[in-house]
Amino acid sequence: MSEIEPFRAIAISRLAHALKAEGRSVIHMEFGQPSTGAPPAAIAEAHRVLDADSMGYWESAPLKARIARLYEERYGVMVSPDQLLLTNGASPALVLGLSSRFSPGDRIAMARPGYVAYRNTVKALRMVPVEIACGPDEHYQLTAAALDALEPAPAGVIIASPANPTGSVIASEELAAIAGVCAAKGIQILSDEIYHGLSYVGPQPSLLQFAPEAMVINSFSKYWSMAGWRLGWLLVPHDHIERARAFIGNLFLTPPSLSQHAGLVAMDQHQVLEGHIQTYARNRDLMLAALPALGLKSIAPPDGAFYIWADIGHLTDDSVAFCEQLLRDTGVATAPGVDFDPVDGHRFMRFSFAVSTPEIEEALRRITPWFGSRAA
Ligand SMILES: Cc1ncc(COP(=O)(O)O)c(C=O)c1O
Repeated sequence: MSEIEPFRAIAISRLAHALKAEGRSVIHMEFGQPSTGAPPAAIAEAHRVLDADSMGYWESAPLKARIARLYEERYGVMVSPDQLLLTNGASPALVLGLSSRFSPGDRIAMARPGYVAYRNTVKALRMVPVEIACGPDEHYQLTAAALDALEPAPAGVIIASPANPTGSVIASEELAAIAGVCAAKGIQILSDEIYHGLSYVGPQPSLLQFAPEAMVINSFSKYWSMAGWRLGWLLVPHDHIERARAFIGNLFLTPPSLSQHAGLVAMDQHQVLEGHIQTYARNRDLMLAALPALGLKSIAPPDGAFYIWADIGHLTDDSVAFCEQLLRDTGVATAPGVDFDPVDGHRFMRFSFAVSTPEIEEALRRITPWFGSRAA
């Protein structure tokens, strides 16, 4: 098996915490982690049920019904609660979807750059990642044509829109075209929709609208700002429910009862959640306005999520050393591109702007002269 690489942003984060322990002021822009915490009503519900519920193994029927309603409200797609498997976030949902649907040796296509765990989870399950290079010409996203050109056709494809690390989205027509190629060639789709709800270019369609047989991943970690509560789901087509249930029953059982209670309440906290998006939109505007002064002229279109994926090839060919030096000199922690792109990531970095607006302002105040001195 080829090696599973470490997530290098974790080492950056460790260094950031060490610097903080030494008394340095640190701004965490290395992880895609909302700094806001769960909606207050969800936390209040958790306090309430802690004394009232025995917290056994549990799959919340009301939560599954509420998630099914989300598909109807957001996308106009009817799904049955039976199609939903509740997991400890998107990460086990990815393992569950891949392991229950594919076999060792199967080729699984994905965009490069892409979320670090796609490549590594596929490898850990003894499958073969097929990375498709996606740059500015492709809007940093998979296209139907690139998928169609793969010879032989892969067994599966992981789609992510909005994507990590780029924030780029796939337009509806292209999603439909991808679904068409997959239907024609028997390619199974796993659509990671964890950043849905976080879009600056209008609502995002679900792949289910074009491919009812697709498996879909989602999580409470991003839009609902509940990363540490470890709650998410895998949606599977009807003919795959039984097999996926057998897998989850052996691999993971159920997510925390406490999180399911809180998650159900979180799903109706629209005002709070919209407030987060307004903060991200402000942060994004500040970042985009500052990028020219940083000398960062080539970035992926930040259509959604909360990332800026920037080409720093004119400044370095070692993004790990670059991000470490940036952190040591300014206290601003960011993620090196090699996590997301093993080929070209040495000349890219990722900023997460899921922090408060004052933190963004302070980060920009610190890093602007630093980038300026590098360019000189
Ligand atoms: C695209 C993508 N998928 C999945 C995950 C994993 O999320 P979770 O916290 O739900 O396991 C992340 C986390 O950053 C992500 O960016």
